Parts: sequence; C-alpha cells; structure tokens
Amino acid sequence: MRVLILYETRRGFTLTVARATRDELQRRGILATTAPLRGVDHGTVAAADALIVGTWVKGAIVVGVAPALGVEEGIARLPSLDAKPAAVFCTCDVAPGKTLDLLAAWLRRRGAAVTVGETFKRKKSLRQVPRFVDVVLEAFARAQAVA
Ligand SMILES: Cc1cc2nc3c(=O)[nH]c(=O)nc-3n(C[C@H](O)[C@H](O)[C@H](O)COP(=O)(O)O)c2cc1C
Repeated sequence: MRVLILYETRRGFTLTVARATRDELQRRGILATTAPLRGVDHGTVAAADALIVGTWVKGAIVVGVAPALGVEEGIARLPSLDAKPAAVFCTCDVAPGKTLDLLAAWLRRRGAAVTVGETFKRKKSLRQVPRFVDVVLEAFARAQAVA
C-alpha cells in the first residue's frame, strides 16, 4: 500500500508530525511519502492508495477556528480521490474547533473516504504518532477489505 501524506505548515510543526507519521509507516513496511498539499502534482496523488492530510489550525482561539488559509482551495485542486481511504490530522496550541470536520468534509467532496481524525498539540504530542498510525492502518485495512 502506498500512503501519501499531504501537509499545510507555516512554522514547521505540522511538517514534523507528517514526517514522524511517514517514518512510523515506513518502519512498518508501508511505502509512505510526504508532499505539500498545495504543491503536490496530480500524478503523485493518483499513484497513492490512501491519503493522510494534515493542517495547522488558524483562528482566534474561540472564534473562526478552522484549517489554515489555502487548505480548502488546495483540496479543491486535487484530482478526484475516487473513494481512496483517507485520514486527517491537525496541529494546534489550544483547541482544534471544527478543523477536523471541515478537512474531512472538503476531502469527501473530492471523493475520499475519510474515517480517522487526530489532533496534535505541540511537541510532546509526537508520542501519539504510533497510536495514530495503528488506527490509520486498521481503518485503511478495513477499507481495502470491503473494496
Ligand atoms: C495566525 C495564527 C493563528 C492561530 N490560531 C490558533 C487557534 O485559533 N487555535 C489554536 O489552538 N491554535 C492556533 N494557532 C497555533 C497553530 O495552529 C499551531 O502552533 C500549529 O501547530 C502551527 O503549525 P505549523 O508549525 O505547522 O505552522 C495559531 C497560529 C497562528 C500563527
């Protein structure tokens, strides 16, 4: 299975989570790569069997909390995702608001089958990566079994 991890980062923490997730998948023998959401080419997306999409959270802590600017447009520009299994994650300082729901909804509009979402708050949350990968791989395996 080829897993493509797409990320939107500003100061690098979302990229760190994306890379840690890629490394954990690779340790388990999965072909995993990362690419910037807004820079990925259509061929790379088409070649992936499953997607993980992550963004940082932008807002005013209690109002307007959502995926970073440009994420909705970046997802809209992806090729049709054709029922590919997908997971979403976000990174934030305080709380993600509806970020994961919005990310999932935008990906579903492109045809992805999103079943997993995870929030990472700052550095110590990198400890969550192995458990996140457990849940993602279980969901992807279930999706393959019914396909
Ligand atoms: C302009 C701006 C707005 C932010 N708004 C929120 C917010 O509303 N809620 C929150 O929990 N974190 C907020 N954050 C924190 C970032 O989401 C968090 O630090 C994230 O991990 C940054 O990811 P990055 O290092 O990949 O850019 C904000 C950060 C910036 C720069």
